[in-house]
Amino acid sequence: MTRHDLPKGMISATSTTGTHAGYMPGWANDFETEALPGALPQGMNSPQKCEYGLYGEQLSGTAFTANPPERTWTYRIRPSVKHSARYERIDLPLWVSAPNVLPDVTSLGQYRWDPVPHTDVPLNWLTGMRTMTTAGDVHTQIGMAAHVYLVNQSMEDEYFFSADSELLVVPQEGRLRFATELGIIDVEPKEIAIIPRGLVYRVEVLEGPCRGFVCENYGQKFELPGRGPIGANCLANPRDFKAPVAAFEDREVPSTVTVKWCGQFHQTKIGQSPLDVVAWHGNYTPYKYDLRTYCPVGAILFDHPDPSIFTVLTAPSGVPGTANIDFVLFRERWLVAEDTFRPPWYHKNIMSELMGNIYGQYDAKPQGFVPGGVSLHNMMLPHGPDRNAFEGASNSNLGPEKLENTMSFMFETRFPQQLTEFAGKEAPLQDNYIDCWDSLEKKFDGKPGKK
Ligand SMILES: [Fe+2]
Repeated sequence: MTRHDLPKGMISATSTTGTHAGYMPGWANDFETEALPGALPQGMNSPQKCEYGLYGEQLSGTAFTANPPERTWTYRIRPSVKHSARYERIDLPLWVSAPNVLPDVTSLGQYRWDPVPHTDVPLNWLTGMRTMTTAGDVHTQIGMAAHVYLVNQSMEDEYFFSADSELLVVPQEGRLRFATELGIIDVEPKEIAIIPRGLVYRVEVLEGPCRGFVCENYGQKFELPGRGPIGANCLANPRDFKAPVAAFEDREVPSTVTVKWCGQFHQTKIGQSPLDVVAWHGNYTPYKYDLRTYCPVGAILFDHPDPSIFTVLTAPSGVPGTANIDFVLFRERWLVAEDTFRPPWYHKNIMSELMGNIYGQYDAKPQGFVPGGVSLHNMMLPHGPDRNAFEGASNSNLGPEKLENTMSFMFETRFPQQLTEFAGKEAPLQDNYIDCWDSLEKKFDGKPGKK
């Protein structure tokens, strides 16, 4: 991992607690970083006067009394209140929030979409967001939205934050830079980024066009799942999450800040870059994570566990064991189980499953679920392998087999997912998706000996 090529005028720290310049390792660490020497107060948070004439300011990501609290202290050129003037409503009609139940769009069904195609129309992080489904209620901070983004244009002196949500970003094509108040995160396919609620940032295209998926989490923050009997290792290991080192801009140019707040978008005009945090410490940060470091655990004799065994991150709902959102990864792995139907089994699920393909072929759907594509198996809607997958898995010789060239994911929520108008009427819906189960045969004739 190398240090970033910084945007012009941006000054960055080197890593203070880790081995990599640009990023600091460790999920939920209490990080500290400074882009100018001595900018970070030591032994206290609020000195009477900060070094360099900086302002001290706390960003609280959880209630003060949450356990553990998540907050970050920033030392910045101007307090955030100077990056916020009067707000005007703006429209971003394709970025939709829950509740959004439409009378003429049927969400009940098994659905699959081809990749949303790129376009020549200039699209940035805000105008390029296409909501596919919403669930729960943004006003009460439960549920989520699933988006596809198409981005071919950098934000120029434009900044954004979501007061509604934490964003989990899953690139599928192209490379993006998130220049945030707390530093810079670059992501590409096979990596993810997590942008916390309230953090101001700008998104730049490093290599386009860019397409990917976003899970917008209205609820409690993502955390690492409890591993239970698995123990202390494997799945996503904390050290593989990377927080950025401090980086700031001292740039006085007309700028806009757009805020997503209670499902609506508002814009304010300011005279400088809000990315002016010179030093910070705390545990409320953006992250990047390389999905190739995810260590899957699975069946080694017969049967296989529920797909929850592949959970990367989980966002609790308040009901123990029942997630607001699970982010689940299906990646390369060995299949070795004996006398076992190895693909995902047929099932109905109280949880609602939205899947995306990052690359390769998914084992339950060898055809039709293509990279960039999305599928939805909603609350209590039956689904499972198509006929080819069933026949293949039922009749193959069960030697050790490596699933190669495959990376798909699932955003799974306890709430039913409602299709947006875009998903139901504009996105490339595969009308024939449910036909994939048509040719499944009745094999039962009352006589034994079919095994
Ligand atoms: Fe499923």
